Amino acid sequence: MRLLKTIVPAFALALAAGTPVPAFGEETPSAVTATSPDGSLVLTVTTDSSKRPTWSLTRKGKLLIGASKLGFTLTDGLNMVRGFRIVGSETASADTTWEQPWGERRFVKDKHNDVLVRFEQNADYAGRRMNVRFRLFDNGVGFRYELPEQPGLKTMKIADEWTEFDVAQGGTAFWVAGLEWNREEQIYQRTPIEAVATAQTPITMRLDDGTHLAVHEAALVDYSAMNFKRAEGRLFRSTLSPSSQGPRVVRDLPFNTPWRTIRIADSAAGLVENDLELNLNEPNKLGDVSWFKPMKYVGIWWGMIRGDWSWAEGANHGATTARTKQYIDFAAKHGFGGVLVEGWDKGWNGDWFGHGQDFSFTEAVHDFDLKAVTAYAAKKNVQLIGHNETGGHIANYEAQLEDAMKLYQSFGMNAVKTGYVADAGGIIAPAGKPGETRMEFHDGQRQVQHHLKVVETAAKYKVAINAHEPVKDTGLRRTYPNWIAREGARGMEYNAWGEFANGPDHEPTLVYTRMLSGPMDYTPGILSLEGAGHVPLASTLAKQLGLYLAIYSPIQMAADFVESLAAHPKELAFIKMVPADWAESHLIAGEVGDYAIFARKDRNSDDWYVGGVNDATARDLVLTLGFLDPGKTYTASVWKDGEGATYRTEARHRIAYETRDVKKGDTFPLWLAPGGGAAIRLHPGK
Ligand code: NOJ
Ligand code: CA
Repeated sequence: MRLLKTIVPAFALALAAGTPVPAFGEETPSAVTATSPDGSLVLTVTTDSSKRPTWSLTRKGKLLIGASKLGFTLTDGLNMVRGFRIVGSETASADTTWEQPWGERRFVKDKHNDVLVRFEQNADYAGRRMNVRFRLFDNGVGFRYELPEQPGLKTMKIADEWTEFDVAQGGTAFWVAGLEWNREEQIYQRTPIEAVATAQTPITMRLDDGTHLAVHEAALVDYSAMNFKRAEGRLFRSTLSPSSQGPRVVRDLPFNTPWRTIRIADSAAGLVENDLELNLNEPNKLGDVSWFKPMKYVGIWWGMIRGDWSWAEGANHGATTARTKQYIDFAAKHGFGGVLVEGWDKGWNGDWFGHGQDFSFTEAVHDFDLKAVTAYAAKKNVQLIGHNETGGHIANYEAQLEDAMKLYQSFGMNAVKTGYVADAGGIIAPAGKPGETRMEFHDGQRQVQHHLKVVETAAKYKVAINAHEPVKDTGLRRTYPNWIAREGARGMEYNAWGEFANGPDHEPTLVYTRMLSGPMDYTPGILSLEGAGHVPLASTLAKQLGLYLAIYSPIQMAADFVESLAAHPKELAFIKMVPADWAESHLIAGEVGDYAIFARKDRNSDDWYVGGVNDATARDLVLTLGFLDPGKTYTASVWKDGEGATYRTEARHRIAYETRDVKKGDTFPLWLAPGGGAAIRLHPGK
C-alpha cells in the first residue's frame, strides 16, 4: 500500500500551506495527510486558527485547492463549524474492477486510498463528533461527512453545509446557474472562474495551467442537492437547495452525506474518461437487471413538442390507438426496441402545466386502448414505453405509484419516462397528513427522496425509469441500474421552439459538463432539422448522427416523426445500427465547449464507432485510429458533413458518405462543418 498517512508537526504544515496551524497537545495529530495511489495528489486535513476543520490538495507538487473549511450550521444552535480538533484517523485502500450491467464501458477500475479523519468539538460545542472520509484516486477526490451516533444529537437539522473549495488558480468555468427558474434547462455559461455566481454541479473548470476540474457530488440520497456558490475571488462554498421546512436537510444520526467530488485531469478527455462518482456509489442493490435491455426507441412526441399534435384529447390528439400502432409497425420494421407514447393517460385536457393533481397514471383516455396497444406491441416484439408526467405534483404521483407500476408490468412495459414540469413553482409534496401538500424545491431533500422512491418501486415491478426535469445524476445508476437515463439539461425539445435555440456549442458543452454525471435522454435524430414553423436547428444532418456517439444513454430516441426518419434512409440506416451499450468509450479528440469526437466499442460485436459533434467553428481534424484491434482490416462507413455544409443556411442538409478500409494506427482526416458532426462505423472484415 502506497498510502502515506503522516502526523505532521504544526510548524511544518504552516510552512507548507502558508497558514498558521496551532497544535492541540501531544496526544492528537494536528494534521493528517494522504496521497492518491500514484502519489500525484496530496491531501492535507487540519484545523485553522479558529479551530475550523480544513482540507487542501496539491497535484504534482502544485497547490490545486487551498485551505478550505468543512462543517455545518444547524437551525437549532451549536453550529459544527468551530472548536474542532482531530482526534484520530484510519486508512484503507482498494484496487478492484467491477462490471456494469450497461454503460459507456463494461469494466470500471476502482483504485483508491481512503482516509477517515475524526474530529471532535470542544466543551463549548458540547463535544460533538464529526468524521470526514476522503477517497483519493489518481484522477479525482471524493469526500463525505460521516456523522456518528452520539449523545445529545439525535437529529441534525442542517441550516447549510459549509464545505469550501478554494480554487488556487484562475481559468475558465463552464456552468449553469443553481437555485434558478427552469431548473437545469439553461444555456451554459463560459466565464472566468471569478465570474461564477451560484452554479449547479457538475461545474467544469479549465485552469490557466491546463488542469481540468469538474466539481460534482456522488450518491445524493436523502439529502438536498449541493449548489456551488462563489463566496469571493475563487473561493466557493456549498449551498444546499432549500426546504419548505426551514432546515435544508433533516437527518437522524448516524448518517453519511453525499460525496463531494472533484474530477482532476490534464485534458478534457481525462475528465470524460473518469468514473469517480460511479466508484463512490454503492454496488448494485437490485441484482439481476437483465430484464432491461439497452435500446433505441421512437415515439409519439416531437409532434406534441412542435405543436402539430396535442397531449390533450381532441381533433389533434397524438396518442391515438391507430397512431400508436403505426409507430409500433415502424419500430418493428426497423428494429427499434420501444415506442414512447405521451398523452395516453387522463389529465392533459386543459392547462396541464399547473394541474398535476389531475393526472391519472392508470387510466387511459377514450381513444387510446392500452390493452390492445400493448398486445399489438408484444406480437411485434416491441415494448410500449410508458409516460408519467406529474406536473411536479409528487403527492398525486406517490399515491398512485404502486398501482401504476403494477399495471405497466402486467402489460409488459418495462420502461417509463417520468416528468416534473413545474415551472410555476416547485414540487408539490405530501405534507404528512393525508391530502395535505407543501411546495418544495425540485432538488431539495424531499424531491431527492421522491425520485428514489419511484426508482425503488419501479424496480419491484421490473420497470426502468427515465426521468425528465429530474434531480441531477450522481451515479446512483450503479446502485439502482433501473435508473437508466434522465434529462437534467436543456434537451432537443428547445429546438422546436426557437431558431438555433440550442446553439451549435450546446452539445459540445454538455459532453464535458452535464454528461459527466451520467446518461442523458437528449432525444437526437431530428433529421428534418426543423422545429415548429420550420425554425431551423443549429445542426448539420451529420451532427444529428454524431449525437448518438457524443451523448450517451442506454435508451436513445430517434426523435423525429417516423415519416421524416423514413425519408432519410441512409441516416436511418446509421441510427438502426448504432449501439446503445458499449464495451469501451474514449474521447479521441475534443476540447470543453468546442468539439467532442468519441471512439466507442460495441458491447455485442467487434465493431467500433467513431463520431461526435462540433461547435460553430469549422475544423480539420486528423484522427488516429490507435484504439482499433491489431491485425484486422476494418471497413469504415462514414457519414460526414458535405462540402460547404454549415448550420447557418440550408447547406445544413449537405451530407457526404464514404467507405474505405482502415487498420489500427491509421490516420483519418475529418472535416467538421460549423455546427457539424460525424458518424463512422468500423466493421472488421474476416
Ligand atoms: C418536458 C419533457 O422534457 C418532454 O420530453 C415532455 O414531452 C414534456 N415535458 C411533457 O411531459
Ligand atoms: Ca424538459
